[in-house]
Amino acid sequence: MRIIREIREMQAASRAARVQGVGIGLVPTMGALHKGHLSLVRRARDEVNFVVVSIFVNPLQFGPTEDFNQYPRTLEADCARLEGEGVEIVFAPSAAEMYPAGATTVVHVEGLSDKLDGRSRPGHFRGVSTVVAKLFHIVQPDFAVFGQKDAAQVAVLRRMVRDLNMDMELIVAPIVREADGLALSSRNVYLTPDERRQALVLHRALLAVEIAASFGENCAEKLRAMGLAVLASEPAAKLDYFEIIDPDTLEPIEDITQGALVAVAASFGATRLIDNLLLPAR
Ligand code: PAJ
Repeated sequence: MRIIREIREMQAASRAARVQGVGIGLVPTMGALHKGHLSLVRRARDEVNFVVVSIFVNPLQFGPTEDFNQYPRTLEADCARLEGEGVEIVFAPSAAEMYPAGATTVVHVEGLSDKLDGRSRPGHFRGVSTVVAKLFHIVQPDFAVFGQKDAAQVAVLRRMVRDLNMDMELIVAPIVREADGLALSSRNVYLTPDERRQALVLHRALLAVEIAASFGENCAEKLRAMGLAVLASEPAAKLDYFEIIDPDTLEPIEDITQGALVAVAASFGATRLIDNLLLPAR
């Protein structure tokens, strides 16, 4: 496994692979890898032998009061785990390498970027779409794998790939959870034992909606009220949003029969967590 820190070297490695007709899969991450990330790597390895995992804590997607400085950085341990997964290249550039002085070009998916997390984290998705577009240009993958965990991110990136005619496929892998239902996240390490227990309410709220829907309730407003009631049972949860929306447009829907995304974000102490559930079309 090679660890590459320079863009030119990454471009050369990708070019060499393509010349040999090798398919390239990319898994973009910010490191602090857990089993959720590794599930994406395995999904990519199912498709191709040449998997590139990028590890870059992207300053552009953090707000001025957010956790950019505290964000866990565990490059050595991450590389050891990726080596065990048969990854070909870890691409881990510095911030100066990705954003040299004077870099002013951004990719902004208008509208979608202001919904869900974009509403409470202004500029976040502009940072995500910009860095992912750069990674796509540098690595030139045949496909990239993202987690359903970040459902709004998936919607924004799908739109970007479509609108800018990027010649690659987006693969979306399911959410990996702890045994008790908490979705794995690099930010879970911030939680105190009490907050860790309180955070389970996110999954409970989603489950309540899933069960009611499976018993035939189609009305988004009624389902939303059920989820909100569960969330209200945990007073420590500071709710940001709980919405039932179209997974592509992120617009509210009235009826879930054509499929729906149920998305939630809440803070426990200083830690903001997100989770979601995809309801399939009936
Ligand atoms: P990061 O939070 O490190 O997540 C990297 C990828 O892992 C994302 O596609 C995310 O959805 C996925 N992921 C995280 N937790 C998961 C879980 N429990 N189950 C399945 N997949 C999970 O998302 C980012 O980084 C950044 O925004 C990035 C796309 C790398 C751009 O900087």
